[in-house]
Amino acid sequence: MKYSASVGALFAAATGQLVAAQQAQGPQLVSGTLRIYGDDAYPVPYRKHQPVDVPRVRYPGFKPSTTILKKGSIRSEGSKVLPCDILMERDVAVKLRDGITMYTDVFRPVDNKTAVPGLIAWGPYGKQVGGQHLDDVPGRSGVPKAAVSDLQKFEAPDPAYWVCQGYAILNPDSRGSYWSEGNQTSYGRQMAEDGYDYVEWAAKQAWSNGKLAFSGNSYLAISQWFIAAEAPPHLAAIAPWEGFMDGYREASRRGGSAIPGFGEEISQTYAGKNYLQDQVRSQLDEGGKGLMTPYWDEQRARVEKIKIPAYIVASYTSPIHAHGSFEGFRRISTPKEHKWLRAHNSGEWPDYYDPAHVEDLRKFFDHYLKNIDNGWEKTPRVRYAVLDPGGKDTVDRVDVDWPVASVQNKKLYLKDDKTLSETNPPSATNVSYTIDSKAAGSVELVYKVPTDTELVGYSKVRLHVEAVGSNDMELTVAISKRDAQNKPIGEFLPFGTIAAAGLLRVSHRALDPARSTELEPYLLHTKEELLEPGKIYAVDIALWPIALRFRAGEHIVLSIAATSIGGVSTRGMFGTAKIKVPTEGETYMPGEQVKTVTLGGMDAIPAWVEAQAVKAPASRNKGTHVIHFGGQYDSYVIMPLKA
Ligand SMILES: *[C@@H]1O[C@H](CO)[C@@H](O)[C@H](O)[C@H]1NC(C)=O
Ligand SMILES: *[C@@H]1O[C@H](CO)[C@@H](O)[C@H](O)[C@H]1NC(C)=O
Ligand SMILES: *[C@@H]1O[C@H](CO)[C@@H](O)[C@H](O)[C@H]1NC(C)=O
Repeated sequence: MKYSASVGALFAAATGQLVAAQQAQGPQLVSGTLRIYGDDAYPVPYRKHQPVDVPRVRYPGFKPSTTILKKGSIRSEGSKVLPCDILMERDVAVKLRDGITMYTDVFRPVDNKTAVPGLIAWGPYGKQVGGQHLDDVPGRSGVPKAAVSDLQKFEAPDPAYWVCQGYAILNPDSRGSYWSEGNQTSYGRQMAEDGYDYVEWAAKQAWSNGKLAFSGNSYLAISQWFIAAEAPPHLAAIAPWEGFMDGYREASRRGGSAIPGFGEEISQTYAGKNYLQDQVRSQLDEGGKGLMTPYWDEQRARVEKIKIPAYIVASYTSPIHAHGSFEGFRRISTPKEHKWLRAHNSGEWPDYYDPAHVEDLRKFFDHYLKNIDNGWEKTPRVRYAVLDPGGKDTVDRVDVDWPVASVQNKKLYLKDDKTLSETNPPSATNVSYTIDSKAAGSVELVYKVPTDTELVGYSKVRLHVEAVGSNDMELTVAISKRDAQNKPIGEFLPFGTIAAAGLLRVSHRALDPARSTELEPYLLHTKEELLEPGKIYAVDIALWPIALRFRAGEHIVLSIAATSIGGVSTRGMFGTAKIKVPTEGETYMPGEQVKTVTLGGMDAIPAWVEAQAVKAPASRNKGTHVIHFGGQYDSYVIMPLKA
């Protein structure tokens, strides 16, 4: 097997041992157990973890040390220059309640005359470099290289900014990731308890002022919902920047269909010495029906238990995070006067590192972690963007709550000339599409908007559907915008499609009557009801929230399509970029000749690691999808519109 000699040498130097044993390992799909609420040994699948010396996971080695990173030094050419001296403690051991030791890096002010608050970036992505990096993403997703120092974890706060503002930055490798002991697990109780123990450990450190918070986006935001719900006493605030809160409904099995491509791609960026709890395999439920289980039930964060101040950031276009970010804001029990929501119009990375947003976040943290009277509490409760493809987006429109109250629900019914109509056509008819070899097919209906309007909030699509040639259907419905000539306008942006979308596997159509509302049907996922030939079924499909402007003459488009399951890749974009880091000293003066090691690249992935990947599931779409409407079949979309 080809392993980069430089990484191998680094290991030998750092630990006195090569991880030869790991190189010899083969594929292992095993069953194990997991702590979930109410069951200390719930059965779940595991896979052998990807070894930490595989180049793409970019591990610079285990190296407990304390270093002063000098003001004016850099981590890599072109990255942000450190504006002050920073004390870095690397690979500090933290013992968890079950005896497992995890390792963390701590960045803090060198001058420690005053105790400081700490910001925690919780996740398994690798506390240094890691398997995911902005350089892997085309155009760094709009984050300039000089905007960050490269000391930050992926999707995490930059020590070069925060330490110089009087904060400690805490970067743990969570349980089972990289050199941390134990098995890497997915969200839920185990992570909540680990996070609790870590917060309380941090609060006891000599440098700590006893106030801790979390910051970061995506995984580093999702983890906040779970850990804050465990209520560690020294956790003073959270700031989840785009993170789902329900692993089943919002990510792994949205609408009931398993779409494992993204989950597998992320799993392939993880590394550790033991086992990885196989979340993707659980999601597939191979041979099963993919129904709700106690495991999946606790992959929904118990956000109602969160009572601490929160600054929550959302977008409408993230296909994984959009719903959960808003839902977190709505469902946490934090008093209204201590929680804030900002829904932006760009992407999670550029929004998180935008200097204006960093300053905004500092104001929030200064207020709650340093007791600084800086007027933060006067920040509007809700600020949201209105997307206007083809026009100019509005950003930071102020409101008092989400969803906003100043809307009126409008129903538009399916009509036989592929339009949407304000009245239900009197006689029953249908449209249909056949499923092609790629299991795709779709139909579109349009509505010419008579006056300027905005769709702001949650929409629902009610359809009467029939499958000809299959006992199930997997549907994706969406509302988007077309111009006055009914041509697409900017529907695809770098940060996702501008559309409000909803998914449903029709056999999972049963609703929870207690939680469903007119605009937000809530699926139970407790039984599979396959479709009988010749029968027509009424289904309600919840669309994720959006704020989208339509000008008079432009078109609202309702599309109904067969869900495309997509493939599974073991070689996504993450891990591709080669990142050079200094072998000694962590940073160096610009121009200084230092020894470096280059981490990354897609060569030398052990074949057995790829062999452990799941296969894409078969689509349940075949034959013809018939959508009935008119007469007794009131098929429609209902949308909250703002004049
Ligand atoms: C990790 O998982 C494996 C496989 O289920 C199990 O044998 C082992 O005991 C687990 N280790 C820990 C520390 O939980
Ligand atoms: C400052 O550092 C010294 C030496 O590590 C330690 O003894 C002391 O408690 C620290 N003080 C604060 C406020 O962090
Ligand atoms: C769909 O509509 C067409 C035209 O009205 C009708 O002939 C056909 O029977 C309908 N199909 C179904 C499956 O109801």
